[in-house]
Amino acid sequence: VTIQQSQSQFQSQVMKFYIILLLGFLTAVAAEQGTAGKQQDVNALLWKIYQPLHRNRLKKLTCGFSPISSTSIYTDEGVAAKKIVDEFNCENLLEQKKYFSLFNPKHREETLMLFELFMSCKTWDPCIRNNAAYFRERINENVFVYALYVTVIHHPLGDGVVLPPLYEVTPHMFTNREIIDRAYSAKMTQNPGKFQMNFTGTWKNPEQRVAYFGEDIGINVHHVSWHMDYPFWWKDNYGYHLDRKGELFFWAHHQMTVRYDAERLSNNLNPVHEIYWNKPIDEGFAPHTTYKYGGEFPSRPDNVDIADVDGVAKVREVMAWERRIRDAIANGYVTGRDGKQFSILHDRGIDMLGNIIEQSEYSPDRAYYGGLHNMAHIIIGRQGDPKGKFDQLPSVMEHFETATRDPAFFQVHKYINNMFKELKDKLPPYTREDMMWNGIELEDISVDGNLLTYFEDFEFSLKNALDDSVSVSDVDIMAVVKRINHKEFSYMLRILSKRNEEVDATVRIFMCPRRDNNKILYSLESGRWGCIEMDKFWKKLYPGGNILHRHSNDSTVTVPDVPSFS
Ligand SMILES: *[C@@H]1O[C@H](CO)[C@@H](O)[C@H](O)[C@H]1NC(C)=O
Ligand SMILES: *[C@@H]1O[C@H](CO)[C@@H](O)[C@H](O)[C@H]1NC(C)=O
Repeated sequence: VTIQQSQSQFQSQVMKFYIILLLGFLTAVAAEQGTAGKQQDVNALLWKIYQPLHRNRLKKLTCGFSPISSTSIYTDEGVAAKKIVDEFNCENLLEQKKYFSLFNPKHREETLMLFELFMSCKTWDPCIRNNAAYFRERINENVFVYALYVTVIHHPLGDGVVLPPLYEVTPHMFTNREIIDRAYSAKMTQNPGKFQMNFTGTWKNPEQRVAYFGEDIGINVHHVSWHMDYPFWWKDNYGYHLDRKGELFFWAHHQMTVRYDAERLSNNLNPVHEIYWNKPIDEGFAPHTTYKYGGEFPSRPDNVDIADVDGVAKVREVMAWERRIRDAIANGYVTGRDGKQFSILHDRGIDMLGNIIEQSEYSPDRAYYGGLHNMAHIIIGRQGDPKGKFDQLPSVMEHFETATRDPAFFQVHKYINNMFKELKDKLPPYTREDMMWNGIELEDISVDGNLLTYFEDFEFSLKNALDDSVSVSDVDIMAVVKRINHKEFSYMLRILSKRNEEVDATVRIFMCPRRDNNKILYSLESGRWGCIEMDKFWKKLYPGGNILHRHSNDSTVTVPDVPSFS
């Protein structure tokens, strides 16, 4: 547990919070209809994306509207709208009923055209709403879904709208072929059904013991949501700067990796090891997932040597990027395009390192430092068919919602984490003054209840995976999947304050591994890299004894599931 004096801006943040809350309350009455209407639009737009819009109100918009007839609805005089309409008229855009991958530069360019059009909208109705209805019927369905999600997240007009759970919008990306087959059969015979979804593979594969983690629909949604909140392609001219994006890239993936290691340790497996470009990938993977259109996700056998991927990248090139990044860490600075040096040996250095490794638009020199993270996803994902001889589709590694299924995902992120650790280890150690808070003493900490995990059944609707027709109507078809949950518990902290005024404290709680897979005790120094953030909160400390209770439900690292929209 760490207890630190909150920064002085704490007071003003609290004030801001109250003020926003107050404003929110005052405007809520007037704006309520607006948000409810937007919510209905979003739900209708994302319902059965492979079929024409079903809601009459929106359906009407898809014919009578032209994105470029009135440019006054845009902040850029229709520049973004004109661009995508031109591309569409020249038939340059990805057709419907084809796969989409954000890692494909052409696909990404298209989805950003649509996103830029939405971002240039002054109003929801007519601009975002009509354009969304218009393009939904015309461009690739998955391009549309991605563009609409990131718009609702980032456009101020999307505030208050709840995005439906992605596993119900594009169920193919979250379940496997076996379930989809049964769902089709249930629909054709008009028999409602619930199908138990099993994790891919068999117990002959030791990695199967932790498949529940990589294939968990919660971690899949967490991962894709993080990358939508902090897209690598984000440019500040969309409206604002994404603060500490590079650092959060590290933190989000580091936490996923240490969580994975904790699950491995509890299943008698070694911690995941990092990938080496010049050694084989020991773990193969057969995803059993299938695209809505185009076929199955490709597999990879065990022990493949990492080969160049035709038309994408050479392993040598990626190793050169790694060298340059390691040199930057060793030197303590990175260089920009103009040769200017920026030190990274300070508390913002990790942010810059994250931007470089992820291949963010924020990288000071994208040509020189390359795109280690994104390219690693593509290269590892293509190792089943690196020469492209068999015309396979993009792998699970090439979609944020499926990447964690492949054990190699965590090997890649262990490799990246270790680079961040190299930088961390070069920073000067915290001083006693950094760590101490005079007059504040943590006297006792205890946990009421055990941190006991268990599996429970979770159901989600597969309706949107299946097409309708006049003669075949919807029936209830659900996937049932085991998900890990935990029993409730709470922390109790006894803190003595010898200060004679109230102070604001930030409490951070971590859980760290105690023994490794050989049952050898970790030292603080070696174990701390595996610590899992459990909670972080603010509390007032009063002079004298303070007792803080904190319930596991309130943890800032967990969220409830988004309600079903089916
Ligand atoms: C999942 O496993 C259970 C138990 O082995 C089996 O009854 C069920 O049919 C499997 N589900 C699928 C979709 O294969
Ligand atoms: C914690 O959350 C669970 C699930 O939502 C709920 O059933 C339970 O009552 C909550 N416990 C407390 C103490 O709020």
